[in-house]
Amino acid sequence: MAAIYHRFFFTLVFLIASTVSLPSSPDRFIKSALTSLRSSEEKPQKYEELTRTLPSDHLTPSCSHVLLRHSFANTINRPPFTTPYTPPSDCTSPPWSYVVLDLRAASSGDQYDRISGLWLGGVELLRTSTAEPSPNGIFWNVRKDVSRYSSLFMRSDLNVTMMLENIVNDVYTGIYHINVTLYFYEFNLIASNPKINGGLEIAGSQRSDQTPADLIIPLCNKGDRGLWFMIEDPSEIHSRRIRIPSNTRRIVLELYVSFHGNDEFWYSNPPDSYIRTNNLATGRGNGAFREVLVKIDGRYVGSEVPFPVMFTGGINPLFWEPVVAIGAFNLPSYDMDLTPFLGLLLDGKSHEFSLAVNNGISYWLVDANLHLWLDHESSNVVARSGGYESPSRHMVRQEELELLDGSFGVEAEVRSEFDGWVKSSKGNLTTSVKSMFKVSNLVSFEKDGAYKRVEQKVETKRIVEVTTESGKPVNRIVHERTYPLRVITSTLRGLSNDKDMYLLVTNVSHALNEKYTTGEALTEVYNRQDSDGWMQVEDHNVLAGEASTKQSFSYVDELSCYSRTIVAGNGEITHDSSSDTCPSSSSS
Ligand SMILES: *[C@@H]1O[C@H](CO)[C@@H](O)[C@H](O)[C@H]1NC(C)=O
Ligand SMILES: *[C@@H]1O[C@H](CO)[C@@H](O)[C@H](O)[C@H]1NC(C)=O
Ligand SMILES: *[C@@H]1O[C@H](CO)[C@@H](O)[C@H](O)[C@H]1NC(C)=O
Ligand SMILES: *[C@@H]1O[C@H](CO)[C@@H](O)[C@H](O)[C@H]1NC(C)=O
Repeated sequence: MAAIYHRFFFTLVFLIASTVSLPSSPDRFIKSALTSLRSSEEKPQKYEELTRTLPSDHLTPSCSHVLLRHSFANTINRPPFTTPYTPPSDCTSPPWSYVVLDLRAASSGDQYDRISGLWLGGVELLRTSTAEPSPNGIFWNVRKDVSRYSSLFMRSDLNVTMMLENIVNDVYTGIYHINVTLYFYEFNLIASNPKINGGLEIAGSQRSDQTPADLIIPLCNKGDRGLWFMIEDPSEIHSRRIRIPSNTRRIVLELYVSFHGNDEFWYSNPPDSYIRTNNLATGRGNGAFREVLVKIDGRYVGSEVPFPVMFTGGINPLFWEPVVAIGAFNLPSYDMDLTPFLGLLLDGKSHEFSLAVNNGISYWLVDANLHLWLDHESSNVVARSGGYESPSRHMVRQEELELLDGSFGVEAEVRSEFDGWVKSSKGNLTTSVKSMFKVSNLVSFEKDGAYKRVEQKVETKRIVEVTTESGKPVNRIVHERTYPLRVITSTLRGLSNDKDMYLLVTNVSHALNEKYTTGEALTEVYNRQDSDGWMQVEDHNVLAGEASTKQSFSYVDELSCYSRTIVAGNGEITHDSSSDTCPSSSSS
């Protein structure tokens, strides 16, 4: 993609025009395949992202189905890989209780971390990225519960599409070999696992909101370079006209997003005043506040401040070997319940759905899936939206600047509230959606810019309440996410006469915590990583270094608990403990 060439161009400009000794950190680096961290390197390096075990992990699937096998070489600026999808033929008929997507990747040779998206019929199933090189090659496995996309897996009129932006030339030789398989489960959970069975029984009655949608309509690009929309500046809006079936009773938009180029570390970007004042040759500017906007017919219907996923070459690549950063192999997607807008959408006409990035600079990859639940007993659902009010916004920016030192703060809060009723064969139900997010971000520079500190806190909350005509509550979902982040980068020079050679000492602490309540059932996830280390860098190549990452993960729902703690140092796991006993559980 043009923006990748941009990066090389930028590096070149940086080397020529740099009159100032400040590297634009955090940055993206490559740990060459020649740079060995581990003491013994005869085997390929296995990477992993720490996640919870899926309920199906210990069970035998009723069938498996290969979605694609492909090698991604020099794919940049080319159309994505596309192949027709055929539903699994050796499987007994749906509905399947569980579908798991399994991606296996292998590569050898030098390569930057790369971004990838996988779509079925234009509906994005997975946003993922690649691991960094190691002397004897690399491999990894990503498993994702894709049950929510079940309605697609029965269709035979769809294409599977995968884009993995890659550049292969004399220097970057790494080709990614990818296999993607779907595993279908229709197990009798009672027989296989009494604990899980209990879980599903409760799930059956209380988590009706998690029943897969009947129909999923993509809000995606035409696909000359991937089915995502590429957004390179704040004024860029990507729209599609979409007609919603007239028997739709519930609609949820699922947003997929990743950030690259000058916005890969958007949360650490100083304002342009800092760059201008110091005559810096960097494009990583425009301040540190970003927001992905969703509009229907030009009106705001929702927005999201995404979790700052760090790719494997980000900040210090040594942190992310062999355990990658939170979300790097399975980027989170973001749900927005748009049911209150059905009053607008059920008029039989097409409506303009659009995506944009507030303050975004080159480049963001964004698309969305519209999950629709239909009324099977009626071809006509009646709906009406409540009065429309724009979201309330508060934003305060603060700026102190003295040449290369300074501090830049942003405090932002956005709140919105929408409601509407939908009369279907399920009754006349009113849905009210309250959303809010708060962001506080501070970017500061000391020691003539050689010491940089970024502190960010993001808090998001969404409450969806469904009530009957008489006001009786039917369902209440509360979804909260918090993602604190701290990044410290300290640049030391004078290692050699080479002015492109420097030492970076870096600390990263970040977390993705989630709390999801539906009715009485509560699910909580805590996921935190603390990394520190140093590396010797020349241009963007990591020559040597030491690093350690500690990760604590815990998952608790009504019936199961899972926790795992990993410590990794210099490419190897030095501590790994896990437990599936609930700390406060008293049941026999
Ligand atoms: C993909 O599948 C083929 C055929 O089974 C196998 O030879 C290859 O090693 C697999 N590649 C990966 C990356 O798992
Ligand atoms: C699937 O891809 C092929 C080849 O790119 C294309 O000709 C065909 O129209 C696509 N089918 C659908 C349903 O998009
Ligand atoms: C549905 O309920 C709302 C109030 O909850 C009411 O205003 C509306 O008239 C009802 N719609 C129909 C078609 O009965
Ligand atoms: C960075 O991490 C190291 C090791 O955890 C710690 O000793 C040091 O104080 C941290 N630096 C800062 C500035 O927080």
